[in-house]
Amino acid sequence: MKSLPQKIIFFALATLMGSAAVVLLLNECPAEAAGKENCGCHPHKAEKTFIHQPVKDGDCNLCHKPSGEKHPKVKAEAFLLTDSGKGGLCAECHERKDTKKYVHSPVAAGDCTDCHDPHQSENKYQLKESASELCYQCHDKNKFVRTFPHKPIAEGKCLGCHDPHQSDHKYMLKEEGVNLCMTCHDKSEFSGKSIHSPVASGSCDSCHATHGTGIHHLLKQVAPAEMYQSFNKENFALCFACHSDTLADSWRTDLETNFRNGMYNLHYLHVNKSHKGRSCKVCHDPHVAAQPRLISDKVAGFGRWRIPIRYTKTDVGGTCVVGCHKPKSYDRINPIENP
Ligand code: HEC
Ligand code: HEC
Ligand code: HEC
Ligand code: HEC
Ligand code: HEC
Ligand code: HEC
Ligand code: HEC
Ligand code: HEC
Ligand code: HEC
Repeated sequence: MKSLPQKIIFFALATLMGSAAVVLLLNECPAEAAGKENCGCHPHKAEKTFIHQPVKDGDCNLCHKPSGEKHPKVKAEAFLLTDSGKGGLCAECHERKDTKKYVHSPVAAGDCTDCHDPHQSENKYQLKESASELCYQCHDKNKFVRTFPHKPIAEGKCLGCHDPHQSDHKYMLKEEGVNLCMTCHDKSEFSGKSIHSPVASGSCDSCHATHGTGIHHLLKQVAPAEMYQSFNKENFALCFACHSDTLADSWRTDLETNFRNGMYNLHYLHVNKSHKGRSCKVCHDPHVAAQPRLISDKVAGFGRWRIPIRYTKTDVGGTCVVGCHKPKSYDRINPIENP
């Protein structure tokens, strides 16, 4: 015969087990369990570094509701989401992410859980992958591998330029055109006395492809990386896409260029050589320069030495002082002897 206290404990236990069984039969999450952390049975939903706030708070029932099916045996059907589980569920608590002009396709489809775990993750914002790998779950990584890569892309920092959800700019870009470039590049490097016309108009994309190309410096067309090479028009495809490709064709001209002494074409003299012809960048900066006609104030010398160039322009010609050499001048009207 059991003592009275034992009877009470036995009775209490039986009642508890009975109610647990009833709960299983009624197929509902125990009311008191729903209020408990992780529904009392799902501790694994809140153990990772980044836990969704309502999960952390144990408010499972804000997203899940019993369906009338058995739980936990027939797990999948036992609970319904309070909404379709698509964007609608998330929108119960979050601002919609599909209100701007350009919406990322999975966001438009309401597939928030393609990228976010609804409960927890080791990545910030409960992302299913680290920010640098996330995009490659759906976009082919090989398309972004380049011999000469743009640094943020090589580092997987797609979010430096793209919003993952939406934007008023095409391709969900965070900014448009040159403003995008200037979120990371220094604007002052692209302003100066003499500014190349496409740079002044902010058309960086007339020469550069942001995602890179097979060519150095993300260039859309070829321009020599070297200071000297044998002359071949194809080497200067970038410059000749906008400028006359006959600029340096012949030694005699009165039309092709202003860089001439009388009729003697000085572009031809410097550039058109079978050996050690100069690149345009020996004299011209592709962006901006402190001297007229985009003439750089320094050119590469031997090793690290940079040779200063001082250029002055006149109405009919100009004068160059390179390093410590004596000045050289040209004059289109009254050609200078031994220039
Ligand atoms: C913010 C909404 C939200 C909250 C809060 C939430 N869940 Fe979920 N849960 C979901 C969604 C959405 C799915 C479906 C997952 C999918 O389709 O990838 C899901 C799926 C599940 C699943 C089945 C799949 C799996 O991941 O194992 C379980 C079990 C689950 N939730 C348990 C819980 C528990 C326990 C809690 C409370 C600690 C909780 N959930 C809180 C949104 C939520
Ligand atoms: C019941 C309300 C609720 C629902 C439903 C909900 N969330 Fe949340 N979520 C929150 C709260 C609260 C926070 C914490 C808010 C904060 O810190 O600003 C949060 C935070 C987040 C964060 C992290 C924000 C940050 O700044 O760290 C992400 C990402 C997120 N939720 C995604 C989702 C997704 C995706 C869904 C749909 C699957 C969803 N949420 C559904 C309430 C909800
Ligand atoms: C293509 C992947 C992807 C999809 C799909 C996606 N997100 Fe995100 N989400 C991200 C990334 C990446 C971040 C982190 C952004 C950052 O670091 O600036 C983020 C951040 C967030 C944040 C926190 C910062 C903020 O912008 O408020 C919330 C909330 C959020 N997402 C909700 C949602 C909701 C709701 C949906 C579905 C409508 C959704 N996400 C769909 C990738 C995605
Ligand atoms: C769950 C799959 C998925 C993930 C993850 C994903 N994307 Fe997408 N993304 C798509 C789909 C689908 C399209 C539409 C493809 C198409 O139109 O060819 C798309 C299109 C795009 C576009 C072009 C949009 C346009 O207007 O043409 C950009 C930009 C983009 N994604 C960037 C990203 C970035 C950045 C990430 C990482 C934060 C990312 N995506 C992660 C599925 C995804
Ligand atoms: C430095 C800025 C920048 C970064 C970083 C960047 N993008 Fe882009 N992305 C752009 C610009 C600008 C466009 C518009 C088209 C163009 O100019 O090539 C674009 C277009 C796209 C497109 C649509 C057009 C296409 O080529 O299919 C996708 C998809 C895309 N980016 C995905 C990504 C992914 C994934 C990453 C990370 C690996 C990434 N982007 C990193 C600037 C960037
Ligand atoms: C998210 C930041 C970011 C944005 C936005 C950005 N860049 Fe860059 N870019 C960089 C970084 C970082 C480098 C490497 C700088 C270094 O190594 O000193 C770089 C280098 C470059 C280079 C030199 C590449 C080489 O091979 O040396 C070019 C050209 C370039 N960017 C053009 C652009 C253009 C054009 C845009 C606008 C469409 C742009 N960038 C937008 C971060 C950015
Ligand atoms: C007319 C063509 C052209 C335009 C327009 C142009 N670039 Fe360039 N850019 C070049 C060339 C050519 C190089 C390589 C120079 C070299 O070989 O040293 C270069 C190199 C660069 C570099 C790396 C070297 C450096 O100078 O820091 C960056 C960064 C860069 N450009 C950014 C930009 C940005 C941002 C814009 C728009 C404001 C822009 N470029 C517009 C032709 C151009
Ligand atoms: C996208 C077209 C475009 C490309 C590519 C281009 N330029 Fe230009 N360039 C222009 C325009 C437009 C002008 C202004 C023409 C005018 O004033 O007659 C100009 C002017 C110039 C000038 C004269 C500047 C002045 O102050 O009068 C020089 C020098 C020059 N470019 C050199 C180059 C070099 C070197 C390259 C190759 C690295 C190049 N350009 C590539 C469009 C381009
Ligand atoms: C040795 C230095 C030097 C080299 C190398 C050079 N230029 Fe020039 N370039 C000049 C000078 C100096 C002027 C200014 C002429 C004037 O207005 O008096 C000029 C002017 C120009 C102009 C303005 C129009 C004109 O012809 O007067 C363009 C365009 C130009 N150069 C393009 C190029 C291209 C493209 C290359 C490479 C194929 C190149 N330059 C190589 C020195 C050089």
